[in-house]
Amino acid sequence: MILLKNIKELFLTEESTPEFLKGESMNQINSIENAFLIIDGETIADFGSMSALSESNFDAEFDCTNKYVLPSFVDSHSHIVYAGTREGEFVDKINGLSYEEIAAKGGGILNSAKKLRKASENELFEQSMIRAKEVITTGTGALEIKSGYGLSVESEMKMLRVIQRIKEESDLSIKATFLGAHAYPNEYKNDKRAYLDLIINEMIPNIAQENLADYIDVFCESNYFSVEETIEIMEAGREFGLIPKIHVNQFTSIGGIEACVNHGALSVDHLEVLTDEDIEALKMGSTIPTILPACSLFIDIPYGPGKKLIENELGFALATDYNPGSSPCGNMQLVMSLACIKMKISPNAALNASTINGAYAMNLENELGTITKGKLANLIITKEIPSIGFIPYSFGTNDVDTVILKGRMQ
Ligand code: NIG
Ligand code: FE
Repeated sequence: MILLKNIKELFLTEESTPEFLKGESMNQINSIENAFLIIDGETIADFGSMSALSESNFDAEFDCTNKYVLPSFVDSHSHIVYAGTREGEFVDKINGLSYEEIAAKGGGILNSAKKLRKASENELFEQSMIRAKEVITTGTGALEIKSGYGLSVESEMKMLRVIQRIKEESDLSIKATFLGAHAYPNEYKNDKRAYLDLIINEMIPNIAQENLADYIDVFCESNYFSVEETIEIMEAGREFGLIPKIHVNQFTSIGGIEACVNHGALSVDHLEVLTDEDIEALKMGSTIPTILPACSLFIDIPYGPGKKLIENELGFALATDYNPGSSPCGNMQLVMSLACIKMKISPNAALNASTINGAYAMNLENELGTITKGKLANLIITKEIPSIGFIPYSFGTNDVDTVILKGRMQ
């Protein structure tokens, strides 16, 4: 057993897993000052105030004087498996081209697909594993990773196998999402129906047979996949047990949110453009909105209206969207800063959105996201910072001192 002692303040302490946080509850965080926490194997065995610590026999003890402890961040939306990078498009963007214009001239998702198809599974694994290790250093303990740069049966499976290998070789808690419907590949641009059939009749059954994915995603957007196509793919995935987690409302609102809520999607992600009808649709179900402020920063588009969601008694998760095109950043601390600065939410709301609500967006709320006995010991020990709100305030600084995942120091 391992003891963390003299913790200045232990955050997100809960007796049991709370409901997914909505409205005003997003601003509330329970904590214990001058606390201890005991890790037994991979899980949290006990925690409380130092004055209540009775046991004294530990394999190791860590003194956390002047340091805070909180659950590690849950990043419920990423695309970290990719080959090569796209700095050329970054310059195009600086010179005034929009995301859509870059895609139209052969950049964007198809640019990454070209690179990924050429990379061997080993090369792809090695590049992606570097990113998985990198995100741990800034406090991430759970990561959802999508396919979607393969766009053929073989290359989509290659991506999903790489995700499985990351899962086996890292202490991160990983969920895999199949995103074959990320873009129409060039070879199908004149026969979109044939690509939909390939997704439905070949990709989904093969992926399900090898148990390579937990979720199914679609880029539901003007010029990508329509609402009708999204519904067809969600239904096809559902037959094989793949739950929808959908990219929607990044650039336009085309009715995708209502369709996702009606089809029991676990999450709807992006939401930079959100109408009042979309908000009403979100109120009708249990789908969790997920906002990606680093994408808004990088491609210079509006920020998801987090504050308005809270005012409407809704809740949301925050995630990085780490990918080579719209968010080459896996730092959840920066995401929290952007959420506070640009979405005008409180540091507490940003922290809840990055922990417990993120855990809901990965169906990991019973294992992660709060300091609760029996949950995984996925913890952040901060540097000696003056307050927990200092994390989003000190934007661009890594305030994480030590990360513990599944009870192991990283
Ligand atoms: O979440 N919008 C769709 N997919 C990614 C971007 C993919 C890319 O540009 O490579 C996103 O922003
Ligand atoms: Fe994304």
